[in-house]
Amino acid sequence: MSNIRLNTITKKFGTTDVLKGVDLDIDDKEFVTLVGPSGCGKSTLLRILAGLEQPDEGQVIIDGKNVTSMRPADRNLSMVFQSYALYPHLTIRQNMMTPLKLRDLSTSQRLPLIGPFLARKEYKELFSQVDRTAKILKITELLDRKPGQLSGGQRQRAALGRAMVRNPLAFLMDEPLSNLDAALRVHMRAELTQLHQRLGATFVYVTHDQAEALTMSDRMAVMMHGKILQYGSPEDIYQNPANVEVAKFIGSPAINILSASVNDYAQICIQNLILDLFAPTQEPNITIGARPEHLTFCDDNPTALTGFVQHIENLGADLYYHVKIKDEQRPLIVRSAAGNGKRHQIDDLVHVKFDLNSTLAFAADGTRLQTHRKLMDELAS
Ligand SMILES: Nc1ncnc2c1ncn2[C@@H]1O[C@H](COP(=O)(O)OP(=O)(O)O)[C@@H](O)[C@H]1O
Ligand SMILES: [Mg+2]
Repeated sequence: MSNIRLNTITKKFGTTDVLKGVDLDIDDKEFVTLVGPSGCGKSTLLRILAGLEQPDEGQVIIDGKNVTSMRPADRNLSMVFQSYALYPHLTIRQNMMTPLKLRDLSTSQRLPLIGPFLARKEYKELFSQVDRTAKILKITELLDRKPGQLSGGQRQRAALGRAMVRNPLAFLMDEPLSNLDAALRVHMRAELTQLHQRLGATFVYVTHDQAEALTMSDRMAVMMHGKILQYGSPEDIYQNPANVEVAKFIGSPAINILSASVNDYAQICIQNLILDLFAPTQEPNITIGARPEHLTFCDDNPTALTGFVQHIENLGADLYYHVKIKDEQRPLIVRSAAGNGKRHQIDDLVHVKFDLNSTLAFAADGTRLQTHRKLMDELAS
């Protein structure tokens, strides 16, 4: 069992509020991702969980026990860093047998080997544990090499292996894939997901890459400026973003955002277009969000926006059309399957319609507005 609870964690560096009261619940065996733009406080939160940093307020609870003032080494958590932090003068086997000194990475060069100082029985046990771990990670033939003789992906696996040998309560990972090239990153996403299933351990994973969060997590916490804006399954966050910041951050290409208004009948209007969609709000000005896959081309009709094709991104299976709409600063991005209907060319006049079941609406302050396909009775009266 290893469930983790972070209770209203706050942290200041100087006068900057880096974490502004963060609550997070992580279930046993869950894969939870902290995702958000650079500088939003993800690493700080993970370091507080690991014990490398003290919060100003709040508690870290692991399995019901308050560990806030406990040393990192006593928390039995394993951390995997973006830099891998492998000792360059040790072989991979020696690295895996030597615990990472979490408190002081800078003096790693002078760290003594732990192996020779262990009792013979413990040493043998650790040795075979390394063998078992290396097998799982398919790095057995690399055990006698030094980190400098490994590729990025192999070093990544060795760093993971060192964390696994400890058999920790949970694995903490801070952007572990960001030093890898794009193809290897995608490959490692699948490997990490499978590893998580095989180990049946709790993973807390930090990334700025929304695609990593969507593809790997059981639940993801979207962080911005020191707060968690939304915590939920990838499906929920993608389909039901709680506010416009989450909607814009998650999804690639990004969701299309348009300014809109609400008329006296609570109908949503974009420019002259009246959508058959209602937002019960007193605010006249709102924004709407439509993902590229929720826009389609259609014939000219009163519920479609008209524009010109400005640019086409061909991704093989899909085409992303950038459509310039009059008076809109940014083009709308419309996804179209490559084999689907007529191909448009640059400068073509096109008409775009909204999938009203998936179109999202946000109030001026960014919070989500519930929309309805039919006007509710109480509003009609
Ligand atoms: N030790 C520190 N001293 C001062 N400021 C820091 C320190 N660590 C992080 N920060 C600041 O705190 C903010 C959050 O940092 P961090 O948690 O590393 O963000 P992220 O991992 O989301 O990119 C940043 O503005 C960063 O500059
Ligand atoms: Mg970071």
